[in-house]
Amino acid sequence: MLSKHSLPVKAMKVSLEKTVEQTAAKHAASQGGLLPCLHEIQSELGYIPNTHLENIATAFSLSTAEVHGVVSFYHDFRTSPSAPQSIQICCAEACQASGSRELEAGVADVLGVEFDETHPTDNYRLERVYCLGNCACGPSVRINDEVYGRVELASLPQLVTEALQP
Ligand code: FES
Repeated sequence: MLSKHSLPVKAMKVSLEKTVEQTAAKHAASQGGLLPCLHEIQSELGYIPNTHLENIATAFSLSTAEVHGVVSFYHDFRTSPSAPQSIQICCAEACQASGSRELEAGVADVLGVEFDETHPTDNYRLERVYCLGNCACGPSVRINDEVYGRVELASLPQLVTEALQP
Protein backbone atom coordinates (compact mmCIF):
# COMPACT_ATOMS: atom_id res chain seq x y z
CA MET A 1 0.00 0.00 0.00
CA LEU A 2 1.28 3.49 -0.88
CA SER A 3 1.56 5.98 1.93
CA LYS A 4 0.99 9.70 1.36
CA HIS A 5 4.77 10.10 1.27
CA SER A 6 5.40 7.49 -1.41
CA LEU A 7 2.93 8.73 -4.04
CA PRO A 8 4.28 9.32 -7.55
CA VAL A 9 5.29 12.96 -8.16
CA LYS A 10 2.24 13.87 -10.30
CA ALA A 11 -0.18 12.36 -7.81
CA MET A 12 1.64 14.15 -5.00
CA LYS A 13 1.30 17.52 -6.81
CA VAL A 14 -2.43 17.02 -7.33
CA SER A 15 -2.87 15.95 -3.72
CA LEU A 16 -0.89 18.95 -2.51
CA GLU A 17 -2.86 21.46 -4.63
CA LYS A 18 -6.15 19.87 -3.65
CA THR A 19 -5.30 19.94 0.04
CA VAL A 20 -4.29 23.61 -0.08
CA GLU A 21 -7.35 24.66 -2.11
CA GLN A 22 -9.86 22.69 -0.06
CA THR A 23 -8.41 23.78 3.26
CA ALA A 24 -8.27 27.44 2.22
CA ALA A 25 -11.85 27.30 0.94
CA LYS A 26 -12.98 25.69 4.21
CA HIS A 27 -11.53 28.48 6.38
CA ALA A 28 -11.79 31.50 4.07
CA ALA A 29 -15.25 32.54 5.23
CA SER A 30 -14.34 32.46 8.93
CA GLN A 31 -13.12 35.59 10.66
CA GLY A 32 -9.52 34.91 11.71
CA GLY A 33 -9.55 31.78 9.57
CA LEU A 34 -6.06 32.20 8.13
CA LEU A 35 -4.14 30.78 11.11
CA PRO A 36 -6.37 27.69 11.47
CA CYS A 37 -6.05 27.20 7.71
CA LEU A 38 -2.24 27.38 7.83
CA HIS A 39 -2.10 25.02 10.82
CA GLU A 40 -4.34 22.52 9.05
CA ILE A 41 -2.30 22.62 5.85
CA GLN A 42 0.92 22.07 7.78
CA SER A 43 -0.66 19.30 9.79
CA GLU A 44 -1.86 17.61 6.61
CA LEU A 45 1.20 18.10 4.39
CA GLY A 46 3.97 18.59 6.93
CA TYR A 47 4.65 22.11 5.59
CA ILE A 48 3.02 25.06 3.85
CA PRO A 49 4.28 25.05 0.27
CA ASN A 50 5.75 28.42 -0.76
CA THR A 51 4.47 27.78 -4.25
CA HIS A 52 0.89 27.80 -2.99
CA LEU A 53 0.88 30.92 -0.83
CA GLU A 54 -0.74 32.77 -3.72
CA ASN A 55 -3.66 30.30 -3.78
CA ILE A 56 -4.17 30.78 -0.06
CA ALA A 57 -3.97 34.56 -0.43
CA THR A 58 -6.57 34.50 -3.20
CA ALA A 59 -8.98 32.45 -1.08
CA PHE A 60 -8.67 34.96 1.77
CA SER A 61 -8.65 38.05 -0.49
CA LEU A 62 -5.19 38.94 0.79
CA SER A 63 -1.92 39.62 -0.99
CA THR A 64 0.67 36.87 -1.20
CA ALA A 65 3.00 39.14 0.80
CA GLU A 66 0.47 39.30 3.63
CA VAL A 67 0.18 35.51 3.81
CA HIS A 68 3.96 35.17 3.56
CA GLY A 69 4.26 37.67 6.42
CA VAL A 70 2.05 35.51 8.65
CA VAL A 71 3.83 32.28 7.71
CA SER A 72 7.29 33.73 8.32
CA PHE A 73 6.26 35.42 11.60
CA TYR A 74 5.48 32.11 13.31
CA HIS A 75 8.56 29.92 13.67
CA ASP A 76 6.49 26.75 13.81
CA PHE A 77 5.40 27.11 10.21
CA ARG A 78 7.62 25.50 7.60
CA THR A 79 7.55 26.25 3.87
CA SER A 80 9.48 23.21 2.74
CA PRO A 81 9.26 19.53 3.65
CA SER A 82 10.88 18.45 6.85
CA ALA A 83 14.04 16.39 6.75
CA PRO A 84 15.03 13.37 8.81
CA GLN A 85 17.69 15.42 10.65
CA SER A 86 18.05 19.04 11.74
CA ILE A 87 20.67 21.64 12.54
CA GLN A 88 19.44 24.47 14.73
CA ILE A 89 21.42 27.65 15.30
CA CYS A 90 20.48 29.58 18.43
CA CYS A 91 19.86 33.21 17.55
CA ALA A 92 18.61 34.43 20.93
CA GLU A 93 20.23 37.28 22.84
CA ALA A 94 22.70 35.42 25.07
CA CYS A 95 24.11 33.54 22.10
CA GLN A 96 24.20 36.75 20.06
CA ALA A 97 26.31 38.29 22.82
CA SER A 98 28.79 35.44 22.47
CA GLY A 99 29.03 35.49 18.70
CA SER A 100 26.09 33.67 17.13
CA ARG A 101 25.58 36.48 14.61
CA GLU A 102 28.71 35.32 12.80
CA LEU A 103 27.30 31.79 12.70
CA GLU A 104 23.93 33.04 11.51
CA ALA A 105 25.49 35.16 8.77
CA GLY A 106 27.94 32.55 7.50
CA VAL A 107 26.24 29.21 7.98
CA ALA A 108 24.54 29.20 4.57
CA ASP A 109 27.90 29.62 2.85
CA VAL A 110 29.75 26.97 4.81
CA LEU A 111 26.98 24.35 4.74
CA GLY A 112 25.38 25.15 1.38
CA VAL A 113 21.82 25.47 2.65
CA GLU A 114 19.65 28.45 3.61
CA PHE A 115 17.66 28.74 6.83
CA ASP A 116 14.28 27.02 6.75
CA GLU A 117 15.36 24.89 3.84
CA THR A 118 16.38 21.30 3.45
CA HIS A 119 19.91 20.57 2.30
CA PRO A 120 20.11 19.30 -1.31
CA THR A 121 21.03 15.87 0.01
CA ASP A 122 17.63 15.90 1.80
CA ASN A 123 19.48 14.75 4.85
CA TYR A 124 18.91 17.71 7.15
CA ARG A 125 17.12 20.98 7.58
CA LEU A 126 18.69 24.23 8.83
CA GLU A 127 16.65 26.24 11.34
CA ARG A 128 16.93 29.21 13.67
CA VAL A 129 15.89 28.63 17.25
CA TYR A 130 15.60 31.01 20.16
CA CYS A 131 17.36 29.48 23.17
CA LEU A 132 18.51 25.92 23.64
CA GLY A 133 18.98 26.25 27.39
CA ASN A 134 22.75 26.42 26.95
CA CYS A 135 23.11 30.20 27.26
CA ALA A 136 26.31 30.20 29.35
CA CYS A 137 28.16 28.29 26.63
CA GLY A 138 26.99 30.10 23.50
CA PRO A 139 27.00 30.25 20.60
CA SER A 140 24.85 27.12 20.81
CA VAL A 141 23.94 24.73 18.05
CA ARG A 142 21.73 21.65 18.22
CA ILE A 143 22.31 18.85 15.77
CA ASN A 144 19.44 16.40 16.07
CA ASP A 145 19.13 15.86 19.86
CA GLU A 146 22.62 16.96 20.84
CA VAL A 147 23.43 20.53 21.94
CA TYR A 148 26.92 21.91 21.31
CA GLY A 149 28.40 25.02 22.92
CA ARG A 150 30.98 27.61 21.91
CA VAL A 151 30.55 26.69 18.25
CA GLU A 152 32.58 28.73 15.79
CA LEU A 153 31.80 29.16 12.13
CA ALA A 154 35.14 27.68 11.07
CA SER A 155 34.55 24.47 13.03
CA LEU A 156 30.88 24.06 12.08
CA PRO A 157 31.33 21.97 8.88
CA GLN A 158 33.45 19.38 10.70
CA LEU A 159 31.04 19.28 13.64
CA VAL A 160 28.13 18.76 11.24
CA THR A 161 29.97 16.01 9.38
CA GLU A 162 30.70 14.18 12.62
CA ALA A 163 27.29 14.67 14.21
CA LEU A 164 24.91 13.92 11.33
CA GLN A 165 23.77 10.37 10.72
CA PRO A 166 24.89 8.98 7.34
S1 FES B 1 20.37 32.08 24.17
FE1 FES B 1 21.31 30.51 23.03
S2 FES B 1 21.12 28.80 24.31
FE2 FES B 1 20.07 30.34 25.38
